[in-house]
Amino acid sequence: MAETKKDKGAIRIYSIPKNAAIIWSLLFFIVSSLCYVLTKQNTSFVPLISEFTTINYNLASNLDIFSQIAVRINLLYSHKSENRMSFKKFDFPESPIQIIEHPLLAQKQVILKVKRDDLLHPHIAGNKWRKLKYNLIAMKQQNKSAFVTFSGPFSNHLYAASMACKLFALEGHAIVRGPHLDIHNPTIRMARACGVKIHMVDRATYRLRHNDDYLMELQQRFAHCHIIPEGGSNQQALVGVQELANSLPKSDYVMCATGSGGTLAGLINASSGTTSVIGIAVLKQAEYLIDEIIRLAPKAKQKSNWQLMCDFHDGGYGKFSTALWQFCKMMKKDCKLPLEPIYTGKLFYALWQLLEQDFFAPGSHITAIHTGGLQGLDGLRYRQLITN
Ligand SMILES: Cc1ncc(COP(=O)(O)O)c(C=O)c1O
Repeated sequence: MAETKKDKGAIRIYSIPKNAAIIWSLLFFIVSSLCYVLTKQNTSFVPLISEFTTINYNLASNLDIFSQIAVRINLLYSHKSENRMSFKKFDFPESPIQIIEHPLLAQKQVILKVKRDDLLHPHIAGNKWRKLKYNLIAMKQQNKSAFVTFSGPFSNHLYAASMACKLFALEGHAIVRGPHLDIHNPTIRMARACGVKIHMVDRATYRLRHNDDYLMELQQRFAHCHIIPEGGSNQQALVGVQELANSLPKSDYVMCATGSGGTLAGLINASSGTTSVIGIAVLKQAEYLIDEIIRLAPKAKQKSNWQLMCDFHDGGYGKFSTALWQFCKMMKKDCKLPLEPIYTGKLFYALWQLLEQDFFAPGSHITAIHTGGLQGLDGLRYRQLITN
């Protein structure tokens, strides 16, 4: 009896650690596999997650507990540079196309498709990625892994460039229009969380951003850096926009919001004569952009299938009326199309006014580009220019 008890005891004592060992091995295997998969995908966004949670950008609130744990596990691996996303992974899958349904479109018998470039990538979205992509490839071809760029303090370009730094383990410098650094500004916070070094300059210095002497001086100061212009608009940007153009459905009209003209120039370059390309200028007195567009895309001079509409700026750059903001909210609610009032809101508000004016013939097919910029909503909330 005593022996049996002893045996049973022995079995019990032995069997518990054996089961535990199996369970722990299994757990170890699952966690290791998870780590491996995550690090291969380079989803290292821990500093960003903490930023997102405080900035209230929609990602963090959408993360479930398992994703949060996965992100944290990934942190352990993210410091190894070989785990970072390689340049080969510059090709993101194409963004989707959304067909918009609205009574006004039905009444005017117009088909509206939206190229949702805001969904091109969770963090580097919109035309900013289209314009950055070949700039970063050019940088790589020069054997550089650092860049310096220019931006306003709430800029979508700063946000996208910062995300690129984080994703591709690049060194980033941003010359930001000051005069003062506001470390609570959500875009600046995100840029700093991504490791971008912010160099504030006064407005007079910032105005020199296209000046050859200033750029030469800057290149000497940042000898190891590739210089990317404000908004990323240059010849390399046009190559990226060409990719966007190639992915669009056949349409009578292609429309986009226009700031510096880079996106419109790229779309004109790639367009066939049967498609009208329309840019909606988001700033006042934007007629000067026509020369800039022709400088970027000399073909535009011969082409007559494009125009820049300069009467839909709604008060000027960064300004917008209550009616425009109400329109943005309506589009989100009724058409499931999130907009911000600085770029894409102005594009669609203009499009709606053009529809009302019967600018588009019945049966027309329009493709409007959602160029992203939704991060800007946080900046507008921060400045209390919008409330929700
Ligand atoms: C969201 C968004 N849409 C449109 C534009 C205008 O693009 P572009 O400067 O190429 O005219 C910008 C950039 O300025 C932007 O951030």
